[in-house]
Amino acid sequence: MNNLIPIIYASTSGNVEATCQHISDLLREAGFETSLHRAEIVDFKVIQESSVILLATSTWEHGEINPFFNNILGEIEKNDLTGKSAGFIGLGDTRYEQVLFCKGIDILREAFIKAGGKDLSSPLKINGEPYQYFNTTVLNWTNKLIELLKNESA
Ligand SMILES: Cc1cc2nc3c(=O)[nH]c(=O)nc-3n(C[C@H](O)[C@H](O)[C@H](O)COP(=O)(O)O)c2cc1C
Repeated sequence: MNNLIPIIYASTSGNVEATCQHISDLLREAGFETSLHRAEIVDFKVIQESSVILLATSTWEHGEINPFFNNILGEIEKNDLTGKSAGFIGLGDTRYEQVLFCKGIDILREAFIKAGGKDLSSPLKINGEPYQYFNTTVLNWTNKLIELLKNESA
């Protein structure tokens, strides 16, 4: 186990990627070490060797997780993740189907918890282009996460 916080994300047009990069910058400014990993190429060992991670995905095609996450989702489903905590970051768009808004991150979160992991806080969910939320919703969510992480390690 190490103190690095890996951020594993699936992103097709770059919205999730930009959001994760921004959150990574905020965490680094607060003194945490982070690493960014694309879900389609990350080794599952990155999750196995961490106690705290961030997982991020967009939603595609009527409530499906971004397919770049499929391999890691499969690994999460067949492994024991007891003792691990994760923060969840979902991007979506209410113009598709409101009930399926950010369903991808819900699928990921449910699988992580079923595998024995726990969530650090309620998921961050972003509707549409994320940039307009960087200094508000994203900043607030990340600050809350930083507080939780500092309390956990105190
Ligand atoms: C074909 C298509 C289907 C989508 N389906 C959904 C959906 O079912 N639910 C949702 O919340 N967002 C949906 N979205 C919105 C994307 O999740 C959103 O645009 C997100 O910001 C994309 O992030 P990414 O480019 O980093 O993958 C869809 C977008 C496209 C283009």
